[in-house]
Amino acid sequence: MKIAVLPGDGIGPEVTREAVAVLECLALPGLTLFEGDVGGAAYHRHGHPLPAETLDMARAADAVLFGAVGDPTCDTLERHLRPEQAILGLRKELGLFANLRPARVFAGLEHLSPLRADIAASLDMLIVRELTGDVYFGAKGQRVNADGEREGWDAMSYADHEVRRIAHVAFRAAAASGWKLTSVDKANVLETSQLWRDVVVEVAAEYPGVTLDHMYVDNAAMQVVSHPDRFGVVLTGNLFGDILSDLASAAVGSIGLLPSASLGERQTAHGTFGLYEPIHGSAPDIAGQGKANPMATILSAAMMLRHSFGREAEAARIEAAVSAALADGVLGGDLGGSHGTAAIGEAVRARL
Ligand code: NAD
Ligand code: IPM
Ligand code: MN
Repeated sequence: MKIAVLPGDGIGPEVTREAVAVLECLALPGLTLFEGDVGGAAYHRHGHPLPAETLDMARAADAVLFGAVGDPTCDTLERHLRPEQAILGLRKELGLFANLRPARVFAGLEHLSPLRADIAASLDMLIVRELTGDVYFGAKGQRVNADGEREGWDAMSYADHEVRRIAHVAFRAAAASGWKLTSVDKANVLETSQLWRDVVVEVAAEYPGVTLDHMYVDNAAMQVVSHPDRFGVVLTGNLFGDILSDLASAAVGSIGLLPSASLGERQTAHGTFGLYEPIHGSAPDIAGQGKANPMATILSAAMMLRHSFGREAEAARIEAAVSAALADGVLGGDLGGSHGTAAIGEAVRARL
């Protein structure tokens, strides 16, 4: 069980430390951790946000535990040197096209959601976000147009095989859970989305037991907070999935609660190679103050045990410990409480 730990910037190291401590407290045999530089921290040390040795370390591991990247002092660098390129580069280089972002209100924790309790209680969805295509990875640039005006442009596209393989991931998840599948797009405006929808319909023929519907992304955003019960598995592209998952986290109660798994096709001895990270960023506004909520990263470690190491029992134990801590009022500032990062980590480990 070789894990590459990449803490990154801002609150990344603070939340990663607590997730590592949770993994270590399980005392799993054969657990080996390697730590690497990534993001702004790597840029400042090595002149590049994703140094070759970090990428090599990730490739040599069975799983990657990732904190967050993003450093305001790097925001004016050329784009290829900015911290965010590290996570984009890892996803692309490691072929991690399937991003699973579960969002759910744990039973008894409806009060953490800003939604009405009866609505919050029904929020339990899995966002399956395509992660290595879309407008994120298309050609982009700035130019001067025919009127002599500056213009920014980004090409959005999806190839058939990119939609097909992520659709299979979502259909398999729906088939295994018995949940319905909602494909979210903007096919009323975008050709990229029309192709997306056509391919999803084709793939659906292979899963007669799964109920499929389609929803435009603007409506989906509205339904996430008004009728979350309408969603089970949500299949969507890179950009829409990015936005909808932050929205879903706010509906759960805090972005500090949502984990993610980024998976590809590579298999390891006990599961699928993957990168695991909270959905939030480096939170420069609270970095260094010891008040970030580490639960999203701890829950990401649980997803790692489930998907990369076949350790369902331990994954479920971690999730139960986090849920119990929340039920006992162990809340960070993001949830209106006063527990700091270390205290939250400690509380979760105590309940393990
Ligand atoms: P952010 O997710 O870092 O923060 C948004 C808000 O949520 C902030 O107010 C922050 O304090 C709060 N927050 C986030 N995580 C929290 C936690 N664990 N506990 C308590 N509060 C938390 O988003 P942003 O401010 O838009 O971006 C900051 C930087 O992070 C940018 O450079 C951005 O590009 C980067 N980013 C990186 C990732 C990643 O590494 N995968 C993800 C998102 C954003
Ligand atoms: C996320 C982040 C990243 C994304 C950024 C930092 C590139 O917002 O993981 O959700 O947009 O995918
Ligand atoms: Mn995001």
